[in-house]
Amino acid sequence: MRKDFITNDDGQNLDETTFIENYWTDVWNSQGGPKGEIGKISTKDEYKVISPFLSQLPNGARILDGGCGLGDWTAFFTEQGYDCIGLDLSRETVAKLHGIFPNTTFKAGDIRATEFDDNSFDAYFSWGVFEHFESGMRPCIDEAFRVLKPGGRLFISVPFDNLRHALRAAGDWSEGKAAHRHDRRFYQWRLTKGELRDELSAGGFDVHKISTIHKRQGVLRSLHHEFKLNYSWFLTRGLSVALMPFMPGGVMSHMILAVAQKPNDP
Ligand SMILES: C[S@@+](CC[C@H](N)C(=O)[O-])C[C@H]1O[C@@H](n2cnc3c(N)ncnc32)[C@H](O)[C@@H]1O
Repeated sequence: MRKDFITNDDGQNLDETTFIENYWTDVWNSQGGPKGEIGKISTKDEYKVISPFLSQLPNGARILDGGCGLGDWTAFFTEQGYDCIGLDLSRETVAKLHGIFPNTTFKAGDIRATEFDDNSFDAYFSWGVFEHFESGMRPCIDEAFRVLKPGGRLFISVPFDNLRHALRAAGDWSEGKAAHRHDRRFYQWRLTKGELRDELSAGGFDVHKISTIHKRQGVLRSLHHEFKLNYSWFLTRGLSVALMPFMPGGVMSHMILAVAQKPNDP
């Protein structure tokens, strides 16, 4: 597993949980907060990977959205007739979500220690959350295992330690010093497919599939980091669309998504 760092001058003395809550509250506020954009969910990579498994869930299945952020996925599944709960560390964002999506259930809380009963969810999904703790993903995985029913599905995405990252790290002798720079702190783990499989298996899950997703985002990042093209330029965005079909997922994809299952007789 490879560490990513973030430049941070203000939050050096904050404990990790407070830093993460403040960081994401600021990110969501800077994007204008929850807007209720659920129309595009069914076009997203995550949805394409998990939809065959969703059709196997019982009617009205109980689903947890761990680290729901702006709440669009929770609201989407609620609209689809599932009993879906969105949980997020950012109390300010959750308070806003209640106003934007009055018919959807949101709670403020930590996915590493939830208030939910053992064996109480048919499915649990979490996009881009399990990787944020420097001590590792295990508390997130253990809690997911506890709250899922036997046979329950787990869908999680985490940053992909793709070949581009491996090559960049090999050429960047200063990477190992990043952890000791006073203006940086840990941001996230980046995993290979094998590492994610091992983490989930060690937590007792049967892993059915790990897919690369968000290839275009990976191409955009490469154009920015390796070729110094600004993300917002029309040229950069056009190039990312044109190049994407020719780029292998193992080299470029930004995230990986695992489909796992709690055994029927855990
Ligand atoms: C990368 S964002 C992903 C948001 C959303 N899943 C999506 O795909 O749009 C990470 C979110 O997880 C939340 N988060 C981080 N750690 C958490 C934790 N331990 N418990 C609950 N939420 C957490 C953050 O507040 C943030 O909203």
